[in-house]
Amino acid sequence: MGIEVVVEGLTKSFGKQNIWQDVSLTLPAGEVSVMLGPSGTGKTVFLKSLIGLLKPEQGRVLINGVDMVNSPERKIMETRKLFGLMFQDGALFGSMSLFDNIAFPLREHTRKKESEIRRIVMERIDIVGLLGAEEKLPGEISGGMRKRAGLARALVLDPQIILCDEPDSGLDPVRTAYISQLLIDLNAQIDATMLIVTHNLDIAATVPDNMGMLFCRNLVTFGPREVLLTSDLPVVSQFLAGRREGPIGMSEEKDAATLAAEEVNGYGQGISSANATRTVVPQLEPSPGLPVRQGALRRRERVMSMMGQLPEAARTAILDSYSPAAGGGRL
Ligand SMILES: Nc1ncnc2c1ncn2[C@@H]1O[C@H](COP(=O)(O)OP(=O)(O)OP(=O)(O)O)[C@@H](O)[C@H]1O
Ligand SMILES: [Mg+2]
Repeated sequence: MGIEVVVEGLTKSFGKQNIWQDVSLTLPAGEVSVMLGPSGTGKTVFLKSLIGLLKPEQGRVLINGVDMVNSPERKIMETRKLFGLMFQDGALFGSMSLFDNIAFPLREHTRKKESEIRRIVMERIDIVGLLGAEEKLPGEISGGMRKRAGLARALVLDPQIILCDEPDSGLDPVRTAYISQLLIDLNAQIDATMLIVTHNLDIAATVPDNMGMLFCRNLVTFGPREVLLTSDLPVVSQFLAGRREGPIGMSEEKDAATLAAEEVNGYGQGISSANATRTVVPQLEPSPGLPVRQGALRRRERVMSMMGQLPEAARTAILDSYSPAAGGGRL
């Protein structure tokens, strides 16, 4: 079963530039979470902070009791082995075949025999649907295939926590749908704790158990997916609707004057009427033949016990999703 990741009061700056401050959240064990946020809000910086590659100035990231921010480097390195990270750009070595790229962490971090390495690598290549492409170089395959190769490489050390940085970037909608299903199937098969960073609204709507959003140097919200999907916070509804009108501007937040002008022009009303019609689509189920997601079972218990603290719209959406008519009876 996956491992819980507890983030407490995390603050990160580069020089004078504060990226985000006081971020606290818990990634529940074995559940799938998504972090949304406009470009440049520090999503990649957040992922790198979780595995100790970047050092926030304040706060803690606790994994099995080890603080990935303040522990000695040796301890951090050891705990980092629990993670699989799929980088935004794939980060494959251009001169190595896909096979060698995917085998790299095994050759680097284990003493496994070459025959054992081959078995593991081919199994992961199969999971991500790249059988037959293993001898190709990264430059000879499509962006989507490079993404999947990056995911296969993230999986070879049997990670209990998987971080995916924009698994969809550069993919067409059909390939994005495949990768969404792949992530859910993966979760069903290995019960790892997963965090996916994306701005893709289809992934946000169909994949996660939990969802959060970074904006304006803060974590706007983090919790059960239904909370964000039914939220009427202007920044959330603007993002989910992909509108220009709202607090998000071309280079992060708009100034007060621009916002006031939009208000006068009646955009504010447009925003609230759009909210009224927003519906929560069902979450993806694992493909036929795969086990039930243990994370989903635990999540149901967990969310039911916190119902009292959730906004009305989120409560309704959660109860709908667990009603037998929605297929929730299967769980
Ligand atoms: N190593 C670094 N040194 C200095 N500044 C950095 C460093 N890494 C990131 N930044 C800055 O931190 C901010 C957030 O960057 P980050 O890459 O995390 O954004 P993001 O949310 O992942 O954006 P995108 O959606 O475009 O990938 C940016 O302003 C970036 O310039
Ligand atoms: Mg990024």
